[in-house]
Amino acid sequence: MVILHYAPFDAHVHFRRAHLLKAVAPYTARQCWGAVVMPNTAPHILTPEDARRYKIDVAASLGERFFPVMTGYLTPQTTPEDVECGFKGRVWYAMKAYPPGATTHSAEGVAGRALLHHPALPVMQELGMPLLLHGEVNFDGVEVDPYDREAVFIDEVLGELLTRYPRLKISLEHITTEYAATFIQKHGSDRLVCTITAHHLLLDRRDFFRGGPNPHLHCWPVLKRSGDREALRALVARNTSFVIAGSDSAPHPTTSKERACGCAGGVFTAHALVPLYTQILEEIGALDALENFLCLNGPRFFSISPKRAHMVLRQSPWTMNTCIPVGDGSVVRPFGYHENPEERFQFSWRISEFV
Ligand code: NCD
Ligand code: ZN
Repeated sequence: MVILHYAPFDAHVHFRRAHLLKAVAPYTARQCWGAVVMPNTAPHILTPEDARRYKIDVAASLGERFFPVMTGYLTPQTTPEDVECGFKGRVWYAMKAYPPGATTHSAEGVAGRALLHHPALPVMQELGMPLLLHGEVNFDGVEVDPYDREAVFIDEVLGELLTRYPRLKISLEHITTEYAATFIQKHGSDRLVCTITAHHLLLDRRDFFRGGPNPHLHCWPVLKRSGDREALRALVARNTSFVIAGSDSAPHPTTSKERACGCAGGVFTAHALVPLYTQILEEIGALDALENFLCLNGPRFFSISPKRAHMVLRQSPWTMNTCIPVGDGSVVRPFGYHENPEERFQFSWRISEFV
């Protein structure tokens, strides 16, 4: 049995809009009191007004008790005035930077080194407003190998960001490599944190390629080597304040995933978020780190008070036996589901109480 005295918080989630929002967001709200909601919706969250409206849509699906920590999508056109106004008005709490072409709906993002000169950054530094980084360089004059994109970002962009803006709060999102884990272990602090997904802690590229590439395990950044996964696990097990649970749960209808060419990137894990992280931390003997990783470190980075709660988790095996209907006729295939019952992922923990 595991008892948490604070409620889980997902520091990186994709809720989407419309039918998809209504179908997926309740899974997060069942397990977490709040979450950092990504702005790469269609249309994107570009202004404080967009964020305010989107927050109303989220509240319509989840009620007022759930705390959506809204974020803005940083583009070359984003003005420092909008960034400041949305932050001071507590409409959005952070800006997210996407390299164009690196992932879903990233075309309007800010490319690699151009980020270093974005006029919003000095203002964010003064405000104490976090910059969330999709930490990959996908194009650098030539197309960068997907397995190297994170390391190239650290070497060519992150290092200079940290020195150019010595007080800017930065989160390197969904890290996937030993290279990033080592960097964070060395430089992690109150102002430099990382998030880690459950699927990158659980899987490596062998899982993706076994039996033929599995579109349902395709995500950005892509799954890496088993040694990378081990390094991420070791980083979490160190139980530091700068390593944060962020699911990057990214739902796509199966019609966008099961395509011969052009498979959408993203794994949907929100339905099992707390059980999965618990299972992984138990496996690595780090259950003592669970509360910091999942409940406390995220809110602290965003300067939000964590939420006291009483959550009891018990060991009790289960499988995910259905896909999730979206309401517009499409379905989302959740992590762990398989048509063949014998191939379904064995989850080992359940939430038995959450008040
Ligand atoms: C995310 C999505 O689908 O929005 N996809 C993914 O593979 N992780 C975007 C992102 O966080 O990169
Ligand atoms: Zn994401």
